[in-house]
Amino acid sequence: MSTPHNSANPGDFAKTVLMPGDPLRAKFVAETFLEDARLVNNVRGIGGYTGTYKGHPVSVMASGMGMPSIGIYSYELYHFYGVENIIRIGSAGAIREDVKVRDLVLGIGACTNSNFASQFSLHGTFAPTASWPLLSRAVNAAEALGVRYHVGNLLSSDTFYNDDSEEANEMWRRMGVMAIEMEAAGLYMTAARAGKNALAICTVSDHLVTGEATTAEERQTTFTAMMEVALETAAAMDKENGAAS
Ligand code: HPA
Repeated sequence: MSTPHNSANPGDFAKTVLMPGDPLRAKFVAETFLEDARLVNNVRGIGGYTGTYKGHPVSVMASGMGMPSIGIYSYELYHFYGVENIIRIGSAGAIREDVKVRDLVLGIGACTNSNFASQFSLHGTFAPTASWPLLSRAVNAAEALGVRYHVGNLLSSDTFYNDDSEEANEMWRRMGVMAIEMEAAGLYMTAARAGKNALAICTVSDHLVTGEATTAEERQTTFTAMMEVALETAAAMDKENGAAS
């Protein structure tokens, strides 16, 4: 069985899938960190790979950009491929002063300016949150690796080019939001509705208030740290299910 956006067969994906936005990043992760990685999907060039990390099965597949895109891929993975855990590994623009470029931001919650939640017809406002089993293991991994990280709220925005960005960013900053990206809230809501787990970890690639940015080399280094946090989280989840290595 395949889906409109995924040609993999049942059983091709591991229980935990890492999702960068960029398909080239997914390929890099598979080639650099996974053993015996094999391509299981390539519809629209959204390469999905499954291999092992320290003996634990892990998959990696890109989400594309924005909530509609991650909404489609995560829905299909959760509902049609038996995936239990999706860890977004992306980049974000910081708005809080204490959040520096190259830091990791772990979204315990994801605010949004999107209308994604309207499909659930709730009589109120849903609060999209990360899953504690993933978040607690990711924090343990970040501590063990000694990387700078923050746990807090992200803003998942429908727009990258925003007509009122200065005012809007300042208002979200006043509410303590750490950084802006474009997918976490859509992923968290899709996971919640499916009864599955999700977490978004982002590296801060640029600072939207100070204008500070990372070089390509720095981005690669911090991306590697984020990858390790995500992979260790995936391995810890698998270990708990009885698999060891
Ligand atoms: N906005 C939205 N997404 C982002 C940004 C941003 O400024 N930087 C990195 N991802």
